[in-house]
Amino acid sequence: MTSPRIVLFTGKGGVGKTTSAAGTATLAARRGDRTLVLSTDAAHSLADAFGEQIGGEPTQVADNLWVHQVDAQRRFERSWGDIQGYLVSVLDAAGVDPITAEELTVLPGAEEVLALLELRTHAVSGSWDVIIVDCAPTAETLRLLALPEALNWYMTRVFGVQRRVVRALRPVLSRAAGVPMPEDSVFEAVERLHRDLEEVQRILTDKDASVRLVLTPETVVVAEARRSLTTLSLYGYRVDGVVANRVFPTGGADAWRDAWVTAQRSVLTEVRQSFVDLPVWMSAYQPGEPVGADALADFAEAAYDGDDPFATPTGEGPMTISRTDTGAVLRIALPFAERKDVDLARHGDELVVTVGSYRRLLSLPAALARHTVAGARVESGSLQVKFRFDQDNASATTRRPDREERP
Ligand SMILES: Nc1ncnc2c1ncn2[C@@H]1O[C@H](COP(=O)(O)OP(=O)(O)O)[C@@H](O)[C@H]1O
Ligand SMILES: [Mg+2]
Repeated sequence: MTSPRIVLFTGKGGVGKTTSAAGTATLAARRGDRTLVLSTDAAHSLADAFGEQIGGEPTQVADNLWVHQVDAQRRFERSWGDIQGYLVSVLDAAGVDPITAEELTVLPGAEEVLALLELRTHAVSGSWDVIIVDCAPTAETLRLLALPEALNWYMTRVFGVQRRVVRALRPVLSRAAGVPMPEDSVFEAVERLHRDLEEVQRILTDKDASVRLVLTPETVVVAEARRSLTTLSLYGYRVDGVVANRVFPTGGADAWRDAWVTAQRSVLTEVRQSFVDLPVWMSAYQPGEPVGADALADFAEAAYDGDDPFATPTGEGPMTISRTDTGAVLRIALPFAERKDVDLARHGDELVVTVGSYRRLLSLPAALARHTVAGARVESGSLQVKFRFDQDNASATTRRPDREERP
């Protein structure tokens, strides 16, 4: 079974993410690919874009084209229900009243991540050739995309330890009245969630998945798109293009429009200079909203202008490891990041990379176990961490990658 081509659309609120996602999906369906558009944005506007009624299940809107607006709440209960049930029983035994207990066991922000679990289910189902994801505005999307790894970390630590403790204590504690011991089904639910999240991460950082940045030619919007590119790369997501939407067409004798055309022209130059390695697809500001499959297909057709919107992304990707004589070099692409923005720490077999307000806990690949960090630098848009093979692998060193350190 080949895995589906997955394309995520993100960008600031209102720039045209849903329109671009829906338009791209329409093109896939029209060339005969079994296509699904999935929305992780609580403000479900795919129904409006297609001008169709859409429920919580995949709904067919055209030949080969289905739309799924994920009901995060329901999905959440399905995955978290067993775990929550147990946590509630613990709090209940501790005398916390049931309604408060219920509230305490809701994982903040986790509803969104479950939309990603739905994406996983679709991705492995074998039912789709192309899956398009209409994401929430940038900040939420970045939080969402960072979550699988963060939750993985949390669950391995918390439940991994707890499981060992519980095994050891169960014979003793089950005789003592009070705190209920988690059933194996609870741990199984945790492990399932853990596995599924890991798979989400794998699917989204795979070579068949990519993210597109949608922007409008305005200075603040472009600044945000640049920051998103840095953060997406930090988390290992591949960005393969930019959609510049609502570009005023030239022509007409209107001074108001002329002023806009001139202002946008200079921002568009900045866009091209910022994203030199990426295609910038332009889409005109239309006299009306592109609604319905035909209008959406026209929108996308004009934007891609003959490019293949589903080509598998090429290039190295945001993270590579290369061997050297003495060890290895890990490279993480961090476009636009400067030395002062980046912090690096090693904790055991994890590398903690902080860029501005975003942090990634990167489990070091097995190939880098028994290596120590021998130096790090930020250069031409990427962080390079030099590892040296070492029998007595030291850990927990913190450093700012501002100079080459010699052993
Ligand atoms: N190029 C365009 N010309 C005219 N209207 C547009 C264009 N792109 C998007 N729109 C309209 O702008 C609104 C917001 O677009 P939408 O795709 O929903 O943005 P987002 O998903 O980023 O919030 C919608 O009503 C959409 O139909
Ligand atoms: Mg939208």
